[in-house]
Amino acid sequence: MSQSRIFSGIQPSGELHLGNYLGAVKNWVTLQRQHESFFCIVDYHAITLPYEPEDLRRRTREMAVSLLAAGVDPSACTLFVQSAVPEHTELAWIFNTVTPLGELERQTQFKEKSARQESILAGILNYPVLQAADILLYKADLVPVGEDQVQHLELSREIARRWNARFDPGYRAAVEARSAATQGGDADTAEHTGFFPEPKPLLTPTRRIMGLDGRTKMSKSLGNTIGLLEESKDIWDKLRPAMTDPARVRRTDPGTPEVCNIYHLHKAFSPPPTVEHVAVQCSTAGWGCIDCKKVLLESIDRELVPIRARARELRADQTTVQRTLADGAVRAREVASATMVETKNLMGLS
Ligand code: TYM
Repeated sequence: MSQSRIFSGIQPSGELHLGNYLGAVKNWVTLQRQHESFFCIVDYHAITLPYEPEDLRRRTREMAVSLLAAGVDPSACTLFVQSAVPEHTELAWIFNTVTPLGELERQTQFKEKSARQESILAGILNYPVLQAADILLYKADLVPVGEDQVQHLELSREIARRWNARFDPGYRAAVEARSAATQGGDADTAEHTGFFPEPKPLLTPTRRIMGLDGRTKMSKSLGNTIGLLEESKDIWDKLRPAMTDPARVRRTDPGTPEVCNIYHLHKAFSPPPTVEHVAVQCSTAGWGCIDCKKVLLESIDRELVPIRARARELRADQTTVQRTLADGAVRAREVASATMVETKNLMGLS
């Protein structure tokens, strides 16, 4: 087990989709055995857009089922729901006081989400501040996420730097010593990580999975997803009409695998010899797109059938799921409350 600590979060959008799974959660499952890991269902983030309370409760439960079924193992990591650990919002408030408004307005996700709303709530603007609090509360240094979260993580690092520079005397002294040494030509002073370490993203080769339209990121809000727990026949109904190489109009036209979303899904789910075979069959027009999609469905099923079976068992045993989340919240709070005591102490708060 390495010294690094991992934190990552996911919105309670109900069932996981293949983008979440390949971009982040599959990586969590590997990393949980290598690092001390905290995984959080971020329901406070979810309420920044309009929602129904009962629906949110259901989606949070479903997300827990999906994560556990996908292999997140509570004996190897801490899995919990954000609103069960009030220190997240407490630290977010503190971070709001060191975050310039301009940095928040520049966030791409803020621009995208606010463009879709008639009235823009302050919560959408402050969303990445809460995300920084999630991570830094656990002093996590590594954050396994998909590519769309990289900008938010840059902001988390910036917030850590700003807070450390203002309130961590050791960090300030180290920065001053480094700048004096650099001016004196001796840049070899020790790094001081600061009270809050600067978290780095951990990306996978499948850091950006496209939706069934092949043009935009797979995302629940864009309605272009394949659910991790969908039955095989439902996945086929979505795969069959899904976008492939746009230049391949007739069955006899040779295709270009690298521009085809289905080929990228093969790379995520099929064994390497199958991926090679697919590339040859596509570029020589040996297979039509439907043939290629049938083989993809087989590969997807091979990986997901056991996950679906496990999800069915977990759905029938909600008591265990709820107990797992409650235990996770207790463990998370131990770390979170210790960070808050130290943070408030350094800031002159009671
Ligand atoms: P969310 O819930 O949108 O997504 C959860 C994770 O799935 C990744 N992901 C994708 N990866 C590849 N291709 C895709 N099409 C795709 N769609 C989603 C996301 O990058 C993410 O890793 N703001 C975060 C939740 C969050 C968080 C945090 C994450 C809150 N606090 C602290 C990390 C650390 C979000 O909305 O993720």
